[in-house]
Amino acid sequence: MFLTRLVYASTIEKGFDLSTVENIVYSAREHNQALDVTGMLCFDRNFFLQCLEGSRTNVNLVYQRILNDKRHSKIIMLDYREISAREFSQWSMGYSPSSSLTAPLYLRYSGAKEFNPYEMSGESAYQLLLQLKHTLPSVS
Ligand SMILES: Cc1cc2nc3c(=O)[nH]c(=O)nc-3n(C[C@H](O)[C@H](O)[C@H](O)COP(=O)(O)O)c2cc1C
Repeated sequence: MFLTRLVYASTIEKGFDLSTVENIVYSAREHNQALDVTGMLCFDRNFFLQCLEGSRTNVNLVYQRILNDKRHSKIIMLDYREISAREFSQWSMGYSPSSSLTAPLYLRYSGAKEFNPYEMSGESAYQLLLQLKHTLPSVS
């Protein structure tokens, strides 16, 4: 069973609403736990950046569901690869809203301090998610 990691970016549809994101995360955690998929979702008012890790079959299954979700659009895969170990094994789906804490990290991993995952390479996007991991509570 190959362990893989997928990173994608997307655009939030119809304006940002925190309760919508909370619903997404709630449902994501339920599904992901059942499939042993782990990862991290990062967002601001406009964009999502998400990393999924797990078996190749299950990561693709979850990604196909995500592609069909009308709550976001312009979904673009930034990176997909086989990995030897997970980095988010404690999180069925950790989430990191944009804040004054996270802003300096956006500048570090992209050309501007505003969060815009379309302007990041797959590697920078992944490195950003790894850094955001340290700002999260340890189990979610
Ligand atoms: C930005 C975003 C991230 C999502 N992440 C996940 C995820 O990690 N796992 C998952 O099962 N569903 C995820 N979803 C939700 C799926 O697209 C889909 O709505 C959900 O799996 C359907 O579950 P339900 O039929 O139980 O409501 C995500 C949706 C969005 C918009």
